[in-house]
Amino acid sequence: MENRRGYSVYQIALHWLIAVFVLFQLFFGESMTTVVDAVENGQPVSTTDQALGSAHYWAGLAILALVLLRLVLRLASGATASANRGPRWMQLAAHALHGLFYMLLLATPVAGLLAFYVGDPWGDIHSLAKPALIVLIAAHALAALYHQFWLRDGTLKRMLSPAG
Ligand code: HEM
Ligand code: HEM
Repeated sequence: MENRRGYSVYQIALHWLIAVFVLFQLFFGESMTTVVDAVENGQPVSTTDQALGSAHYWAGLAILALVLLRLVLRLASGATASANRGPRWMQLAAHALHGLFYMLLLATPVAGLLAFYVGDPWGDIHSLAKPALIVLIAAHALAALYHQFWLRDGTLKRMLSPAG
């Protein structure tokens, strides 16, 4: 179902809010690992790691809630028609990449909760999200810039200004 010309202001706000939270998790996630390891070994934790660990917990839950909200909005308003430039394989790749993003953004916080409350092997599984997300985000951002500045099909602009 492709029945909108672009993204709504809510979808755009959610996209960038989730992106900021995800980047925060990737930059500061190791504090949570430090806290978990210190608790296991009965060692003291610095107040910075404690604060960042607790922020990791809440930012992760916020991502889970915001991604669920975003999926509900998407199901309610239908998928946005793509900018329709570039070959068919590229459009299919974009769809596959976006689907993978949604799956990873749901699975990662769930694995994080299991790592926090159940422990191993969930900690290791949850940590795999870091390289996976870094690769996906790099490919995604490069693709967005390629569309905007090489193909000049307004893809990035669609994620910056809402459809009228
Ligand atoms: C999309 C959301 C999330 C992302 C991107 C994320 C990312 C990360 C990253 C990058 C690390 C550090 C891995 C390392 O040291 O190499 C980490 C560790 C951890 N995170 Fe998350 N996280 C998310 C959500 C959550 C949530 C919701 C919780 C729990 C409520 C959580 C609990 C943990 C725990 C317990 C660890 C330590 C794992 C261990 O080494 O045992 N995370 N996370
Ligand atoms: C950092 C974490 C990021 C995540 C998790 C993320 C996730 C997503 C997802 C899931 C979609 C699909 C939206 C849908 O159709 O339902 C999307 C679209 C989009 N994202 Fe991101 N994104 C991130 C960062 C970025 C960055 C840094 C840029 C720009 C350089 C960007 C530009 C775009 C654009 C232009 C679209 C629209 C694509 C289209 O209309 O086909 N995103 N993003």
